[in-house]
Amino acid sequence: MNTQRPTRSNNAKSATSHASSVAGPQISSVDTAASPSGGRAASRTGPRLAAKPDTKARPTKPTLGPGAKTGGKAKAQDRKPSWPRACILTGGGDAPGLNAVLRAFVRACEPLGVEVVGSRDGFTSLVEGQPLVPLNRESVRGILPKGGTVLGTSNRGNPFDYPQGKRSVNRSRRVVKRLADEGISCLILIGGDGTLGIGQKLALQGVRVIGIPKTIDNDLRATDRTFGLDTAVGTATWAIDTLHSTAEAHQRVMILEVMGRHAGFIALHAGIAGGADVILMPELPYNVERVAAQVRRRTRLGAPFSIIVIGEGAYPQGGAVNTLQGATVGTPTRLAGAGHELAELLAPRIPHEVRVTVLGHLQRGGSPSPADRILATRFGIRAAELCAAGESNCMVALRGTHIVSVPLNEATSGLHRVDLKGEFVAVARTLGIELGA
Ligand code: F6P
Repeated sequence: MNTQRPTRSNNAKSATSHASSVAGPQISSVDTAASPSGGRAASRTGPRLAAKPDTKARPTKPTLGPGAKTGGKAKAQDRKPSWPRACILTGGGDAPGLNAVLRAFVRACEPLGVEVVGSRDGFTSLVEGQPLVPLNRESVRGILPKGGTVLGTSNRGNPFDYPQGKRSVNRSRRVVKRLADEGISCLILIGGDGTLGIGQKLALQGVRVIGIPKTIDNDLRATDRTFGLDTAVGTATWAIDTLHSTAEAHQRVMILEVMGRHAGFIALHAGIAGGADVILMPELPYNVERVAAQVRRRTRLGAPFSIIVIGEGAYPQGGAVNTLQGATVGTPTRLAGAGHELAELLAPRIPHEVRVTVLGHLQRGGSPSPADRILATRFGIRAAELCAAGESNCMVALRGTHIVSVPLNEATSGLHRVDLKGEFVAVARTLGIELGA
């Protein structure tokens, strides 16, 4: 049970989106490579790869030197493989499509002559000296439709701020050395601004880094779209559809709180797709009187019920973002309470009963949508090509309809937020959806 209490803070930006997921489901180890079913029999939330190196999953390339054996004890110079060796990891909160990226990257690397290993639970394996997981076509078989990440992820593994008891320490040198010892020529980071920011700092220490953007919030400036958003919007749209019938039956106002720490993409897109009556986003502090007026207007027009979608980072004009107190070392501020705050403000202003549904991590779990699988696959393949071409300190991105490579520092140069003058906001207003301001 969560004993942390919601508070309000104006410091929305300090609530970095690097992070996430202590609360996510931890799946017990399942070795997809060793499983005759290729992992399909595993949990719907997805298998995790075995921690121990899988000897069946050796690359079919020329034999490595004596020290190249993952987790071996030979000297660093013996470990240098004769072809590029990439280490890939998934960091921060999970997003539907992570496994699709892993699969595409590994499959694309094979013909390009790049050997791939994975670090479990974000940077944890690299910092803790745990064995890296060999990844090949067999070990990623069957993972495309799975949610979560077979490598595991963590929001507490920042090597520059690594938790040790009640304090945190800088373990970045350990990571740099480990990569060199393992003969890793390129580090592939699938993550949000936190993980990619770590990548930038490692790049300054001489590590070759390629980033792949991930977050259901879609708040990374350097790419038009991240994978995970489409699945999350699908889940939120399903929730709006489901709430409609019960809202109508009881003539209630239903508030649906969705994720979106700094950006209202999930709220806006799902709100439009689900036919919400009010959409409130972090980008546009709301006036509760306008929300109440919309509810009353609908009642006058013969619809005595309303659906309100609110992003977790939204707050009233003159108010502040709702956060949880008592964060643990190395974890980012958590948001909670936006929906309940709105309910408190709204209920005295309307005759309707108000109910709140917090959709939470349902948006992050489950099988990725076809659109997310495709985007993730395109990102994975492009990253493999960049890796094989010797590129580094860059990130793959979607610009328009094209997958491109952008400098890594662009990824963390600012937030991608809903354009209040853009088409989607105009569409919502044209439909008569109240945006709170
Ligand atoms: O990945 C971003 C995000 O989905 C935010 O919208 C949300 O605030 C956060 O993750 C929650 O992460 P967690 O509960 O895993 O810490």
